[in-house]
Amino acid sequence: MVWDPQQYLKFSGHRLRPAVDLLMRIPDFDVRSVADLGAGAGNVSKLLKERWPDAIVTGVEGSAEMVAAGRKAAPEIAWLQQDLASWQPAQTHDLIYSNAALHWLPDHASLFPALMQKVAPGGILAVQMPRNFLAPSHVLIGETALNGPWRSKVEHLVTPPPVAEPGFYHGLLAPLSDNIDIWETEYLQVLAGENPVKEWTKGTWLTRYLDILQGPEKAAFEAAYGERVAKAYPKNAAGQTLFPFRRLFMVAQRKR
Ligand SMILES: C[S@@+](CC[C@H](N)C(=O)[O-])C[C@H]1O[C@@H](n2cnc3c(N)ncnc32)[C@H](O)[C@@H]1O
Repeated sequence: MVWDPQQYLKFSGHRLRPAVDLLMRIPDFDVRSVADLGAGAGNVSKLLKERWPDAIVTGVEGSAEMVAAGRKAAPEIAWLQQDLASWQPAQTHDLIYSNAALHWLPDHASLFPALMQKVAPGGILAVQMPRNFLAPSHVLIGETALNGPWRSKVEHLVTPPPVAEPGFYHGLLAPLSDNIDIWETEYLQVLAGENPVKEWTKGTWLTRYLDILQGPEKAAFEAAYGERVAKAYPKNAAGQTLFPFRRLFMVAQRKR
């Protein structure tokens, strides 16, 4: 998938909020090394570095475009272009942090315990993932995919939600943790502009579909989804679009 940092950062305020909420739930402790998994363009990695200025903060990121943007915007971060599925750090990290990235990886039943093994004893795994996949914003992408001439090209992308319920992650991490805190927040995001929910998903989930299509077919898919999603999220009397968005958070301290 090709990430477009500019499209993703269009809603940077709304996207930053959960990252900061997660950061604020991490207790103060002696942090010397941090891995920011799926660090994107580095705007959250910078905050990690600001909070722990003496720590080495490594942004682990698969997209060349994002790493290039990150190197420019956050030169104080050590950048590693690497697929998280095969990430094997030489040493454990005091803090492994990940905002809005791990839902791109499959098989969370194996992934989360394996990540916990990469945290130093007494250290923290802190993760935020969207859990909005059953909302119209995301369901309508699948509906569009299955109802158009593009179906055979994109139907393999219509899969069950990649993020499970909170209890699933508790079951995986509690046996490995001294302390664990898991919660969800639904943000009522107030967006401006024309069809902003389409613009939002175009920075993330919709991209998987648009990447596969080309030319007029790509434009037709975007328009068909855009029409559906605009109806699902109409503007209010003030011309704003309310876009409720649910996110799952976890902060787990690895057993000493
Ligand atoms: C939605 S962005 C979040 C970026 C950043 N954490 C933030 O909060 O601004 C998700 C990032 O995860 C990265 N990503 C997704 N799957 C990945 C994988 N398998 N390996 C490495 N990076 C991945 C994407 O390239 C993208 O930059």
